[in-house]
Amino acid sequence: MPLVVYEPLIFYTFPYYSCTTHSVSSISTALPEIPFKSTLHFYLNGKPKIVKKPDPEAILIDYIRNSAHLAGTKLGCAEGGCGACTVTVAEFDHDLKRVTYKALNSCIVPLISVEGKHLITVEGIGQLENDSLHPTQERIAKFHGSQCGFCTPGIVMSLYSLLRNNSTPSKEQISEAFDGNLCRCTGYMPIIDAAYTFAIENQPECGSQPGCAKVNCCRNGKSAAEVVKQVADFKLEAVCAKGVDCCRNKPESNGTAHSNETDMNALFTPNGLPLKPYAPQLDLPFPKVLQSREATPVLYGNGHKMWIKPTTKQQLLEILYVYPHAKLVGGASEVQVEVKLKNADYKLNVYCNDIAELKSWKFTNGGLEIGANISLSDLEMICENLAHTMGHAGQIYGALAQQFKFFAGRQIRNAATPAGAIVTASPISDLNPILVAGGCHLIVESFAGNVKTFALRDFFVGYRKTLLEPGYIITKIFIPQTAPGAFIHAYKQSKRKDDDIAIVTACLQVELDDARIVKDACLVYGGMAALTVESPKAQAFLRDRKFDEKATLEGTFHHLELDFPLGFGVPGGMASYRKTLTLSFFYKFFNYVLQSLEMPFEADSLAEVTRGKPEGKRDIVNPFETEIVGKSNPHLAALRQVTGEAVYASDISPQFNELCAIPVLLTKAHAKILSVDWLAALEVDTVEGYLDINDLPSKLANLWGVNPAGMEEFFADTHVYYYGQTIGVVLATDPERAREAARLVKVEYEDLTAVISIEDAIDQSSYFADNRVTEKGDWEAAFAGSKHVFENTSRIGAQEHFYFETQGCLVIPEEDGELKVYASTQNPTETQEYAAHITGVPSSKVVVRVKRLGGGFGGKETRSVCWSSLAALGAKKFKRPVRMFLSRSDDMLVAGQRHPFLMKWKIGLDESLRFTGLDATLYANAGWSMDLTRGVVDRAVFHAANAYHIPNARLEGIPCKTNTASNTAFRGFGGPQGMFMAETIVVDVAERLGVDPDLIRERNYYDLAAGQTTTYKQLVSDDYSVPDIVAQNKEEANFDGLRNEISEFNRNHKWVKRGLAHVPTMFGIAFGVTFLNQGGALIHIHQDGSVLVSHGGTEMGQGLHTKMAMIAAEELNVPLLGVFISETSTQSVANTSATAASASSDLNGMAVKDACDQLNERLRPIREKLGPGASMANIAKTAYLERVNLSANGFYKTPDIGYEWGVPNPKPAFSYYTQGSAICTVEVDTLTGDWTCLEAHVKMDIGRPINQAIDYGQIEGAFVQGMGLFTLEQSLWLRHNGALFTRGPGAYKIPGFRDVPQVFNISMLKNRDFKHLKTIRRSKGIGEPPLFLGCCVLFAIRNALDAARREHGIAGGSRGLPLISPLTTDRIRGFVGDTISGYGEVVPKDGERDFFVEA
Ligand SMILES: Cc1cc2nc3c(=O)[nH]c(=O)nc-3n(C[C@H](O)[C@H](O)[C@H](O)COP(=O)(O)OP(=O)(O)OC[C@H]3O[C@@H](n4cnc5c(N)ncnc54)[C@H](O)[C@@H]3O)c2cc1C
Ligand code: FES
Ligand code: FES
Repeated sequence: MPLVVYEPLIFYTFPYYSCTTHSVSSISTALPEIPFKSTLHFYLNGKPKIVKKPDPEAILIDYIRNSAHLAGTKLGCAEGGCGACTVTVAEFDHDLKRVTYKALNSCIVPLISVEGKHLITVEGIGQLENDSLHPTQERIAKFHGSQCGFCTPGIVMSLYSLLRNNSTPSKEQISEAFDGNLCRCTGYMPIIDAAYTFAIENQPECGSQPGCAKVNCCRNGKSAAEVVKQVADFKLEAVCAKGVDCCRNKPESNGTAHSNETDMNALFTPNGLPLKPYAPQLDLPFPKVLQSREATPVLYGNGHKMWIKPTTKQQLLEILYVYPHAKLVGGASEVQVEVKLKNADYKLNVYCNDIAELKSWKFTNGGLEIGANISLSDLEMICENLAHTMGHAGQIYGALAQQFKFFAGRQIRNAATPAGAIVTASPISDLNPILVAGGCHLIVESFAGNVKTFALRDFFVGYRKTLLEPGYIITKIFIPQTAPGAFIHAYKQSKRKDDDIAIVTACLQVELDDARIVKDACLVYGGMAALTVESPKAQAFLRDRKFDEKATLEGTFHHLELDFPLGFGVPGGMASYRKTLTLSFFYKFFNYVLQSLEMPFEADSLAEVTRGKPEGKRDIVNPFETEIVGKSNPHLAALRQVTGEAVYASDISPQFNELCAIPVLLTKAHAKILSVDWLAALEVDTVEGYLDINDLPSKLANLWGVNPAGMEEFFADTHVYYYGQTIGVVLATDPERAREAARLVKVEYEDLTAVISIEDAIDQSSYFADNRVTEKGDWEAAFAGSKHVFENTSRIGAQEHFYFETQGCLVIPEEDGELKVYASTQNPTETQEYAAHITGVPSSKVVVRVKRLGGGFGGKETRSVCWSSLAALGAKKFKRPVRMFLSRSDDMLVAGQRHPFLMKWKIGLDESLRFTGLDATLYANAGWSMDLTRGVVDRAVFHAANAYHIPNARLEGIPCKTNTASNTAFRGFGGPQGMFMAETIVVDVAERLGVDPDLIRERNYYDLAAGQTTTYKQLVSDDYSVPDIVAQNKEEANFDGLRNEISEFNRNHKWVKRGLAHVPTMFGIAFGVTFLNQGGALIHIHQDGSVLVSHGGTEMGQGLHTKMAMIAAEELNVPLLGVFISETSTQSVANTSATAASASSDLNGMAVKDACDQLNERLRPIREKLGPGASMANIAKTAYLERVNLSANGFYKTPDIGYEWGVPNPKPAFSYYTQGSAICTVEVDTLTGDWTCLEAHVKMDIGRPINQAIDYGQIEGAFVQGMGLFTLEQSLWLRHNGALFTRGPGAYKIPGFRDVPQVFNISMLKNRDFKHLKTIRRSKGIGEPPLFLGCCVLFAIRNALDAARREHGIAGGSRGLPLISPLTTDRIRGFVGDTISGYGEVVPKDGERDFFVEA
């Protein structure tokens, strides 16, 4: 059987080393004909740059951040998968005679690629300081499109790049422009809303042409008639009616292009804030000098790496003749990933993407001939146009255009090339199956004048192996038009629709004669073998057979099964899904051909689930608005975030004498450590030292963990307990060398058995000894008296935080042993305490400062502490500043995740469907240490009944000990897992009894009049609002109407099914540990009347500082802008609780108010003396002169809570509940498992919001994050070694722009006054509670599956399907229950297990 791989990242390490060392002089001597220069010339943000000694190891982002010192461009993943590093690169296209603008991932493209171009970063387009904000920046900020802000510069630059090419794009084009950007905070909707303000649909006609109408407007670029004309003569004109003469295409033009100035003056944000008009002519001009500049070959490098940039094909061939093993680099989207993630070390690199001959294209001899290094974006546009105009013959171009829509993100497509895809020969390439099935060929050339032609179908010869010989390059690819009688179509299925690597990809072609007999067939698949492969048996079967017959279809299925005999444990997993997809794709293709032949076909099977253009409403009216509090002010740092001026820990300038610290991570899941040898690491250039357990003052100093008792090791001691545990730290001045050195540390192990999953832990009784049980009433008696008793198991997987800014810090040692720690942490106090603990320095000498975090979501509540402590140890030992930031891959490997849970339950119901009793055991995968697991399990137990009354209950939470990284806090902190159990119980019971799940819900809501209590005996008070929220939400969403529409739809569709679901939530607010429910603040009023507020919470995008400033401003009666919050510092407010538990506004807000109250009291006499109109400047100055203390320290502790386990009548666990309801509809392509959320209506009880827009941002962001948790995000571990496989955006998919519900409406509970709330301004915590509502999408999909299964004759519908999350595309497809999935099913042989494990 062939090696079969599913390869987002099988971390193979290849012998990529080209050992020979070259130098500038040796290469210049060997290539005397080529007139190399060794400097780089380009423009950066409108200014000329000459880089005299370019760093050959620097990629573009390294230059931007480290040499140009422009920190606005962020590094999120370093693998092209998140878009945080997006920049715009402009160049003059001499053929088109216009400037083109491309969004590119600066973490991928090499520095040499900007030679002769104009590089534009977020700083170049607008800055806050001189009020030069670009409209893209301003609108994203004012529409609340920036929360933590780490993704924001990249998003701004994607939008900017689009607008530079087309100033009035369509909504569709806007959505596409973002397909290479991710955001983990916002839920995308506000960004989309902001971007839509530029859309043609939102503009009046420009009126420049007679009959101008929006979609046909010249500014839209392409009217239907124009497209045809353009393609017919193969001119890709500029977007303005003036074509190449458009002022925007002219370098340094003053421009007379359309300005929509007057139109846009009328445009406002949802909050009524006016917006700057967009005047394209004011955008940065293209430098004239670059237009006429002659391209010159470049050569530079050092002992580690060399770069050559030839400017002609001839030069390139000559270089390869002399250096046949030099590494050719096109878009670098493969090469750079190999360098960064797979440790490839290419010494001699030749950049070949700027050679005109390799980028040209023409239509000739019945086909499209393209230069091998044309960008995929350009090829996409050409193919789109050809497909539009060529009819039948253009089918192959249509297949390519269709596939490109889902091929990587825009930034990658702007750089990547067909040659790169072909030579990479990835088994899951999306392009290669089309080139094979389409009968394409390629031309390779060598310096000696040898020209060879290869059919693509012969070119791939093994795993990542082709027939390309050293010294040859691919120069052209020929893509023939589709022959008469031939039919071709491409398919792809991945985890996420946009920007994801395929699970299975295919291109299928048949050629039929007039009698519909198959003359030829080429069925090509990716993801089914070690290379792109044809299906020999199925193809042979099809030949000479009448196509349009059932027997042909069935026979092809059978032969495809024979072609792809995947075993259950196949590398990459998902054997059944992959097999089923090969058949499903063929089924779709079969119907596609029938449709083309105008024969009866199943229209449904052709449907592609479309993501549409999301739209949404926020009911932004806040009846509780006062002077400042309650208003929807944008996040106070938003304007700095959109310009790249906001500073994160990693942006702090390099310090004198700084060291970079790289952890050495162990590569066994469970083993005894026999020896460690790190001497080789010290030999590496620029390495200054090594840290390990021997540097600690005592063995006790090696232990840390959650207050009060720490049991986790900073450094592995005698054993390794998870793959990725730290054994040491390398310190060097050069980060690259530090990484190289870390790889040289040798460890010998003795293997021990590893426990990875909860199931393994239960089998082996691997638990932490700290179970907790809540008991209420007599549940056993209740079961005995129940009408119905059901038992089942629910399971929910892990979730990666995927905060955009990875874990990291900078520690600076100062005089007298002081340590200044700049950390990306939610927990300054523990950061301080453990830095003190590990170094032996008193806490009073350690200051932790946190300006802001690029996202946290709980992942930096405790897990950040170990890195800052290690950096502090290094700073103390070497007496030098130490900077330690984890790579995305290491961060995901070591930082832990949301706890997976397996929940075994038994439920009783009476005849009126009221719950009588519940007995449940909740097993959580804690990982190797407890960390916060105690609290997470407690909260899961508390929330396991969600919003329902259960009179008798026993709930037990058990933390399982496994050999994975320690799982930790994640938004919701066990609550979503517990509530998932409750909702799976509701749905399971409803399916078993054949009733509507909402009937069960309604019967079991709390009855306030009856004085009912939760399962943990907390009295449910008039704070309980779930039934009201649900009623309002159902009415506003037209729930009954949706249900009818969906039933109607499902009656008329066989393969596409829709589903509907509703879910409530009831989330308790307060820290589970009582002592954490305290907050502090320190306020100084200065003599000029300005107010400096410090409080205990950190700003991580959730708008906490904005809310605190609003409270202080209103309480002190000063304007909002008169209040400043600089940072969170242990020097200002000490002994803080972590910013977590959705309680930070409550705790710190009250502390701020307390400080304000004290100040107001002291200022009262002065106010009375000066009169009501006195300014704060006047009041403060007077107070100072009268020796009144203008500083106050506020404090707050939450009253009336303090649950104690095991106490018969405990105090309340929570001070109130944030409640909500979601209603969702989905559409599912049951042939592939692909789906989209059509509508989501989310209504929350948020009390009286302090800032409604910020709260709504939290709701949207949390909902989308929750949707990811329950449907898309799947953490997987490799079974053979226990390593986390899903590391980085390539392998781990968070929702993207196109995953946003197509209709996304947010509202708040109405008709309540919330007078019962004792919280700050009667507001409610909102950060975590809406996340759980994302599971509504899962239940809507289950509802659609119910219809699908009934369609296929399964009478019980979804009854009996596993109660499992995430409901991924492969699971969905496997649950459809049709005959095709039956054919595709792979049954494990004895002892055969899945390639991956879910922990
Ligand atoms: C974030 C991300 C997402 C991606 N998503 C997808 C996806 O959805 N689908 C998919 O199929 N792929 C995807 N890829 C893979 C990759 O983008 C493609 O394989 C791409 O086409 C590679 O092109 P490139 O120009 O960037 O190649 P490079 O990285 O520059 O080069 C790749 C190989 O091609 C060689 N090469 C380049 N030009 C020539 C030439 N003219 N002659 C001979 N050899 C040459 C290089 O030496 C190298 O060995 C993704 C990659 C990334 C980083
Ligand atoms: S940092 Fe470049 S794409 Fe993520
Ligand atoms: S605002 Fe997008 S990742 Fe935080």
